[in-house]
Amino acid sequence: MPIERNRPAIPADECAAAPDEARSSALDLRPKSFAEYIGQRQVVETLEIAVTAARQREDVLDHVLLYGPPGLGKTTLAHIISNELGVPLVHTSGPALEKGGDLISILTHLKRGDVLFIDEIHRLPKIVEEFLYSAMEDFAVDIIFDKGMNARSYRAKLEPFTLVGATTRAGLLSAPLRDRFGLQRSLDFYAEQDLERVIVRSAGLMDVMIDLPAAAEIARRSRGTPRIANQLLRRVRDFAQVRSDGCITAPLSCDALALEGIDALGLTPLDIRFLDVIIEFYKGGPVGLEAIAATMQEEPDTLMDMVEPFLLKAGLLLRTSSGRKATESACRHLGKRFFKPESRQMDIALE
Ligand SMILES: Nc1ncnc2c1ncn2[C@@H]1O[C@H](COP(=O)(O)OP(=O)(O)O)[C@@H](O)[C@H]1O
Ligand SMILES: [Mg+2]
Repeated sequence: MPIERNRPAIPADECAAAPDEARSSALDLRPKSFAEYIGQRQVVETLEIAVTAARQREDVLDHVLLYGPPGLGKTTLAHIISNELGVPLVHTSGPALEKGGDLISILTHLKRGDVLFIDEIHRLPKIVEEFLYSAMEDFAVDIIFDKGMNARSYRAKLEPFTLVGATTRAGLLSAPLRDRFGLQRSLDFYAEQDLERVIVRSAGLMDVMIDLPAAAEIARRSRGTPRIANQLLRRVRDFAQVRSDGCITAPLSCDALALEGIDALGLTPLDIRFLDVIIEFYKGGPVGLEAIAATMQEEPDTLMDMVEPFLLKAGLLLRTSSGRKATESACRHLGKRFFKPESRQMDIALE
């Protein structure tokens, strides 16, 4: 079943990325209103205005596209939008909609103003995507019966609805689909102070004691991502419970995170292996992502979604026209020798 009505289901890939979250109290940690949502002030303000205006006019909210790396709060925002509008949310994802019929059956069941949330919208099959064009623009779908000479089409009217799409790869969205979203906002990595607030809030909900230096320590190593902040908090909570009196302090957080293999910048063993391969195996780069992935025996998509965004943001990685390069600070951070780029080779930084 590609559809779950009014229940904050977690898509399969997200469960893989965050098994703890999927299993236990994760959904309770999700903020339920704009007021509870920490950080991303500009995005929140834009959405809050649009939602309030739509509610005041008793109108249907424009379609919303949210993009940015995993764990920054896209799904959470989709649920907040439906909560604040006071309408049900139907949750599905690009890969779950295999045929046009899957989408049509969801669309025809939507009531006026309902929110349809399509996660990983960049993975929507082309044939399904084409049904969305008229659904989003004209609130209608053209259903074709029979084939060839006997083909007949029937235009089914839909109730006006709001599509909220989320993607980690806005670049993979086709122009016609992208253009149909009236509101498009990208989520950026969180500042450390915001992550501290996320951690203190989550600790409160989990009923664990934490001091501010400990929250700052965990925030520093959360790679700008609330989902990671919550995951690290859970690991530290377990450590504090078993090795100490349950209260989370900064030294205890450092010990717990060292045990998890998280370094001072928050890099995981996977991040470190990624940089190591570029520096040691490919002499600092430039090297293509496919080659790195093959050497690491990982999927390029995983590296692109889970590893690269933060390394780029932290200035440890460069994406150039000729491939990925480790920066001097990456070499310094890992205690490796930096290979100076050859002067004849000028690379154009892509990001
Ligand atoms: N702004 C925020 N304030 C507090 N917690 C947040 C915020 N954004 C995300 N989270 C937490 O991070 C987790 C991951 O967020 P999610 O919306 O699933 O990210 P995405 O859909 O972008 O991958 C959520 O379970 C939630 O607890
Ligand atoms: Mg999500």
